Amino acid sequence: MYPPITPQTADFIHRLPKTETHLHIEGALPYQLLQQLDPERFSQPQACWAQDFKWQCFEDFEHHLIEHAMQWFTTPERYYEAAKVIFAGQLAQNIRYVETSFHAGMIQFLGIPGPEILAAIHSAVPAGLEVRVFMGMARDSYNEVLGPVLDDCVEWDGLAGLDLHGVEYLPLEAWTPRLWAKARAAGLTTKAHAGEFGPAANVREAIELLGVQRIQHGVRAIEDAAVVDLAIASGATFDLCPISNVKLNVVQELEAHPIRQFFDRGLRCTISTDDPFSFGNTVEDEYAALSSGLQFSHQELAQIAKNGFEVAQLDAATRTKCIAEVDAVVADFEG
Ligand code: ADE
Ligand code: ZN
Repeated sequence: MYPPITPQTADFIHRLPKTETHLHIEGALPYQLLQQLDPERFSQPQACWAQDFKWQCFEDFEHHLIEHAMQWFTTPERYYEAAKVIFAGQLAQNIRYVETSFHAGMIQFLGIPGPEILAAIHSAVPAGLEVRVFMGMARDSYNEVLGPVLDDCVEWDGLAGLDLHGVEYLPLEAWTPRLWAKARAAGLTTKAHAGEFGPAANVREAIELLGVQRIQHGVRAIEDAAVVDLAIASGATFDLCPISNVKLNVVQELEAHPIRQFFDRGLRCTISTDDPFSFGNTVEDEYAALSSGLQFSHQELAQIAKNGFEVAQLDAATRTKCIAEVDAVVADFEG
């Protein structure tokens, strides 16, 4: 358990312009929306929001998430309504740029075309927030129904990129590197969850075989120094979610999280919440955890924020402005 931060540090964290670049939209379902559907059943806060809560295993976590998400996400309008609330919460934390993914499996479960889900999320974006929408898929997603959808998706208006998620023990299938290369050729950004529950070798595979520069988690790269060196040399960014990693037991405690070593070795890291429905976290909580559990200084927290803007899909002027604003907050606190 890490101690609370000072009010000064909380203020510093709040005032930093921030990004969130690893967020599953179904895992960000605002609890208040379930409460509106069934006030009695959802009257109590969830146990999984306690700081010392641990999920039994990934499957246990995933089952709880899917069971709840399926009650809300039934139509494109429901994606719109959830996204409205999620984006308002991010703006309230002074988050300026977001990358979020929706799960390709929902296209199959719900029978809704992917472009309709995409359009619903985009139409919820408020002024002051830049949002890029990705489609996430499992390692075994290429089936009779989704295969043609995946073959077609790089052409969709408003799709920023692809992400690979779900259980990491499934093998990488041949369709995936092909689709990832096709997506990049069409100008999309490609990501992959690797080195969360799988070994460092999965991070190497994501970089060398899938060709991604954006690793989601990447925690277990710490088990092989050569993989950390490869990640740095290839210019990769790790979009880390420390509170998710502790609650899913990828690391036993925050103080043991390798983000400190990655950061010190010069690997570009960002921080995000992953699935706030199931972890009860905010982006500001992630910054606070780095401050109090891993002794990140204000300067170092500012660098994490700047890393997010460095990899963001923003025009040069907006990127420069956001980074300058981060520097101005640091200067203000030091002065
Ligand atoms: N989907 C939602 N959260 C995930 C996580 N932490 N790892 C892999 N897939 C996920
Ligand atoms: Zn994730």
